[in-house]
Amino acid sequence: MSDRYATLVRSPIGKRVADAAGLPQPLVLDRWSPGSPAITGPVLLTSGGAEGPLLDTISGIVSGAGAKLLGIPGDPAFTASSTLWTKDGEKPGSIIVDATGITDSEGLKALWNALHPTAKSVKSSGRIIVVGKDPATVADPSAHIAQRALEGFTRSLGKEIGKGRTVNLVLVQPGGEVALESTIRFFASARSAYVSGQVAIVGKPVGKSTAPANWDRPLEGKVALVTGAARGIGAAIAATLHRDGAQIIGLDIPPLADDLGVTLAPLGGQSITLDVTAADAPDELVKQIKELGGKVDIVVHNAGITQDRTLARMKPERWEKVLGVNLVAPQRLTDALLKAKLLGDGSRIIGLASIAGIAGNNGQTNYGASKAGMIGFIEAYGAALEKVGGTANAVAPGFIETQMTAAIPFTIREAGRRMNSVSQGGLPVDVAETIAWFASPGSAGVNGTTVRVCGQSLLGA
Ligand SMILES: NC(=O)c1ccc[n+]([C@@H]2O[C@H](COP(=O)([O-])OP(=O)(O)OC[C@H]3O[C@@H](n4cnc5c(N)ncnc54)[C@H](O)[C@@H]3O)[C@@H](O)[C@H]2O)c1
Repeated sequence: MSDRYATLVRSPIGKRVADAAGLPQPLVLDRWSPGSPAITGPVLLTSGGAEGPLLDTISGIVSGAGAKLLGIPGDPAFTASSTLWTKDGEKPGSIIVDATGITDSEGLKALWNALHPTAKSVKSSGRIIVVGKDPATVADPSAHIAQRALEGFTRSLGKEIGKGRTVNLVLVQPGGEVALESTIRFFASARSAYVSGQVAIVGKPVGKSTAPANWDRPLEGKVALVTGAARGIGAAIAATLHRDGAQIIGLDIPPLADDLGVTLAPLGGQSITLDVTAADAPDELVKQIKELGGKVDIVVHNAGITQDRTLARMKPERWEKVLGVNLVAPQRLTDALLKAKLLGDGSRIIGLASIAGIAGNNGQTNYGASKAGMIGFIEAYGAALEKVGGTANAVAPGFIETQMTAAIPFTIREAGRRMNSVSQGGLPVDVAETIAWFASPGSAGVNGTTVRVCGQSLLGA
């Protein structure tokens, strides 16, 4: 559905009115497409004068991805190969701050040193990433406090930075340093256009492989099953995983068989028509996957429905249907795939949660429960997947432009669209890109987490 307000305020007259009235002016966000840079450069790398234990690792990732490095003389990150950053010089596409060397509250001033002079020089739709240590893994009390403080800093900067720029925090656990690349590439590129104010945790990689052989097609040789693939976010997930090299199996309900066929035809994908809540759905899924080649590496539990009513007015069928599709089915299907040993080393389970499962929403006790339950499912199954060398993660979308959100009453829809740091709804591809990051073999260090794709929505923030 088109965002008429955004179109209006991007016109010369609309812009003048919006300027005068101080109304939000959503920018057209840069989105990744083949040929776009792997990392939005040039990249200003700094530790704000603090020690930077990960500076070498990060500069290797940035240079390996083909981006130019900028630096500030005197900063530990400045090397002979850095180009000098000046206030009026070349604008950085991204700034990456290594904050892992900050060991006490006074040391947090390094964040100010790093970003006070530089943040506003980042290009529109640019990226700021702060890299810290997961406080849960830091025993020293002073260092724990300082590392915990990074979250409030990044979330606050995300709210004030503007111009479609995003600010995210990447927390590294011991052993996670070797698995950082896919996460830096995601957060420092146009792939993460609608992800801001988020915390991603990278731990010791699970399974055997950590880096894809080809970063342009990281899912080459993988088979991805996407439920609810006929339309909306599911169709975008299928297209994005296919772009990244995966062979697609799309699943949807029998009445949408034709739409599913239309979505999958250009991807050369295979289809399964199945109601995921059917009593025999787990057995049927295993049977059909075996018939289609007997392999699945990536499972995206995307099929989902809403049936809104306040609790007092909610008939039991509405409760059962929503919980059945959104929560019971993903667990039953995953259990069947695990039991049939179809999920092994390098496998990925990815769930669709929602900010309604984090913030709650009027009229959505059923949906909110199912989506919070999805976050719990991912936490619990992360451990189960780790045992077979795989991972489980979830995305929690905010307001995404689909048929589901087109059905929301106008005023609530407008509020949902604007109440975020980029003043607009996200696109299905924004959710799909985040799923592609989780799905990458390079993301073996990301497990059991939920990342919001919500433009830093004020709901549940
Ligand atoms: N659109 C948003 O803003 C938003 C926000 C947060 C979360 N989500 C979640 O993202 C997912 C996709 O949402 P969407 O907006 O694309 O919705 P959508 O209604 O456009 O698509 C959902 C798909 O799931 C399929 N499906 C529903 N019940 C099924 C069943 N029993 N068996 C098999 N397939 C079934 C539908 O046929 C449809 O193709 C859902 O899980 C939704 O809860 C969406």
